[in-house]
Amino acid sequence: MPLKSCCIYSAGVFSVLLLILGISLILSNVFPHFLQSVVEKEVVLENGTETFESWQNPPAPIYMQFYFFNLTNPAEVLDGDRPAVVEIGPYTYREYRPMEQVSFQDNGTKVEAVNTKTYIFQLDKSRGPESDLIRTVNVPAVTVMEKFKDDPLIANLISSYMKSGGEGLFTTRTVGELLWGYEDGLLKALKAFQPQLDDVFGLFYKNNASNDGEYVFFTGQQDYKDFARVDKWNGKSSLNWWTSDECNMINGTNGASFHPVITKHEVLYMFSSDLCRSLYAVYEGDVVVKKIPGYRFSPPSEVFANRTLNPANTGFCVPADNCLGSGLLNVSPCKQGAPIIMSSPHFYQADEKFVQDVFGMMPDKEQHQTTLDINPLTGIILQAAKRLQVNVHVQRFASFSQTGNVRTVVFPVVYLNESAVIDDTSAKKMQVIVVEQNVVENIPFMLIGLGIILGGIFMFLMCQQKVPESTYAERQPLLSS
Ligand SMILES: *[C@@H]1O[C@H](CO)[C@@H](O)[C@H](O)[C@H]1NC(C)=O
Ligand SMILES: *[C@@H]1O[C@H](CO)[C@@H](O)[C@H](O)[C@H]1NC(C)=O
Ligand SMILES: *[C@@H]1O[C@H](CO)[C@@H](O)[C@H](O)[C@H]1NC(C)=O
Ligand SMILES: *[C@@H]1O[C@H](CO)[C@@H](O)[C@H](O)[C@H]1NC(C)=O
Ligand SMILES: *[C@@H]1O[C@H](CO)[C@@H](O)[C@H](O)[C@H]1NC(C)=O
Ligand SMILES: *[C@@H]1O[C@H](CO)[C@@H](O)[C@H](O)[C@H]1NC(C)=O
Ligand SMILES: *[C@@H]1O[C@H](CO)[C@@H](O)[C@H](O)[C@H]1NC(C)=O
Repeated sequence: MPLKSCCIYSAGVFSVLLLILGISLILSNVFPHFLQSVVEKEVVLENGTETFESWQNPPAPIYMQFYFFNLTNPAEVLDGDRPAVVEIGPYTYREYRPMEQVSFQDNGTKVEAVNTKTYIFQLDKSRGPESDLIRTVNVPAVTVMEKFKDDPLIANLISSYMKSGGEGLFTTRTVGELLWGYEDGLLKALKAFQPQLDDVFGLFYKNNASNDGEYVFFTGQQDYKDFARVDKWNGKSSLNWWTSDECNMINGTNGASFHPVITKHEVLYMFSSDLCRSLYAVYEGDVVVKKIPGYRFSPPSEVFANRTLNPANTGFCVPADNCLGSGLLNVSPCKQGAPIIMSSPHFYQADEKFVQDVFGMMPDKEQHQTTLDINPLTGIILQAAKRLQVNVHVQRFASFSQTGNVRTVVFPVVYLNESAVIDDTSAKKMQVIVVEQNVVENIPFMLIGLGIILGGIFMFLMCQQKVPESTYAERQPLLSS
């Protein structure tokens, strides 16, 4: 039976070939590399492509949620007690942030744009209307007192003026006023002497329907790893973002975009697009968002550590020798000298001291950490939540009786959660890619499986063929060996 044995032997040879092929494909990583190169070609900002469209107009809805801290014991605080606060929120805004005035440069290797952000209030996703009242620190008053504390004459005048207007260390304002601005009596009075002064105060004053200047991004045409990375911001190289970066955090600039094929060892620079050494996120674990696998990245506690623990953070000591404890970031230079300090919500990852100083702080990793969930193959952001708290540095000024016997405290005013989850349409597309990825990545294993099956058939047929040729007696020792 030459034909039959020929078939049998070719099955054997074929099975061995399949096994070799399968194993060498696994070892050489051909398919993952192929997938990566396909994805890498996709991620370039080019007019008319889908990637460009979603960069220009992010399809996933972004929500900005604010949680205020309502002060319950102002009189006791002025007598030296620690403040007791109640968290009130969320007050939710839908955030629109299209890229505008887009123009390509340098043969399509760079693209220039401004990022205009607009916030629209969402009553149905909020605890109450923007007219809800919140009692908190009187930030304009604290700023003015801080500025004139060493000038007894002016301090005295201002103090009397505040008394006549009934203004003190604390104030009760609506959510809308605190966020988007209100005309402040004290600032207005001072404006008479300093006309360049703005008499409106708000934590996010002028941030609505405005942009923070001109960005130049890399398109990723030359190197996919540069996809949507910031080259320049307001004419400054992103290398020199040190001082402006602290401002970016409070203004909420966050042009996050990531190149494909993210590894677990990658360090992601998140708040500014790049190169700000102290603001980064590292791999924390695996997640699944809308059936799409992702890596979760989160800032490690060293990000906000004080300079003893992390010397790289010396840049955040403003002025140079005025360092705060771990977990705090002084941003007063970006807020016209207002003593504003950023931290994680409820002082998560900060020194225990700050948590103890305010009654009502309950730091919780799940709720208060900043997270970024990224699909490693494509670099697409599946889910993100940027969480920051705005605090005011409150202390007693001998020249201002308004500060009573208040103890020095980092007083929490509000925290924000700017979050987004991949939209369903994009998620469906991603799910298809994930299935394709699984199929392609499993091809070598299918080949090996096929090889094993063929090998099995080969051996079975070999034994079958041997039966007539050999006697029963001869086979016996073979089986028992
Ligand atoms: C993209 O192409 C369209 C149509 O050709 C054109 O109108 C638009 O100005 C281009 N956009 C940019 C940023 O070059
Ligand atoms: C753009 O491309 C053209 C032709 O490929 C080349 O001559 C020119 O120098 C390039 N310009 C820039 C700014 O790279
Ligand atoms: C922001 O500006 C837009 C458009 O100018 C306006 O519709 C919206 O109400 C504003 N949002 C806030 C919070 O003021
Ligand atoms: C915050 O506290 C003030 C003073 O006690 C109170 O009038 C106000 O209703 C509180 N705000 C909310 C939203 O509960
Ligand atoms: C942040 O916003 C303020 C106005 O609220 C502006 O003066 C400042 O330049 C902005 N900072 C950045 C970095 O955009
Ligand atoms: C930094 O933090 C550590 C631990 O919280 C503390 O022991 C150290 O004194 C701090 N250094 C400064 C400069 O605040
Ligand atoms: C934002 O964070 C807050 C605080 O952890 C949480 O309660 C809220 O559900 C988050 N919002 C979204 C949309 O995830």
